[in-house]
Amino acid sequence: MTETIAAQGEVRALGPADTDRYCNHLTRLDADARRMRFFADVSDFHVLFHAGAALSDGRVAIGYVEDNEIRGACELLTSTDDPHGAEAAFSVEQDWRCRGIGGLLMTAMIDAARQRGVQRIELQCLKTNLPMQALAARFTSDLRQIGDTTLAVLDNSPAAAG
Ligand SMILES: CC(C)(COP(=O)(O)OP(=O)(O)OC[C@H]1O[C@@H](n2cnc3c(N)ncnc32)[C@H](O)[C@@H]1OP(=O)(O)O)[C@@H](O)C(=O)NCCC(=O)NCCS
Repeated sequence: MTETIAAQGEVRALGPADTDRYCNHLTRLDADARRMRFFADVSDFHVLFHAGAALSDGRVAIGYVEDNEIRGACELLTSTDDPHGAEAAFSVEQDWRCRGIGGLLMTAMIDAARQRGVQRIELQCLKTNLPMQALAARFTSDLRQIGDTTLAVLDNSPAAAG
């Protein structure tokens, strides 16, 4: 029998003090997950560099933390060409998936984005990434197939919030 354990950790903002923990989380992703997360095969050095930059350049970074370890995370990177647009990226470690942690991170990220005036959030993933599309589909019906990628667009404007 497979047992699904509910998420018991906390979802919180990540900052520079979490860099080692974040690096360890990203390093624990297997090769497939790294490819899905970064759209490329990336080295441990790339992951180390990414973790340091992501937690110090002012972007929104939110983690799912359990027993002082980051097991899931989401980053929100503002668009260079749209002051109200941003792109989000997610990672949840294999043994922590399908417990709703992606959904918890998405909800916290949407909230943080709204506080920063982000009105349009894009989520890009490979077409073969069915878990990410299932996660995105819980928050938007605007999923576009573009080549071998899927683009999900979340309307985060005050009007959409009602
Ligand atoms: C995508 C990801 C973040 C989801 O995290 P998670 O904590 O498992 O998310 P949730 O538990 O909230 O939801 C997972 C959804 O995927 C679905 N799912 C899981 N495996 C699936 C599969 N093989 N086919 C279709 N759907 C699948 C689950 O049923 C669930 O959808 P539902 O709630 O509609 O049933 C995680 O799988 C991950 O980190 N993948 C590797 C990195 C990545 O792909 N990042 C995204 C690109 S930035």
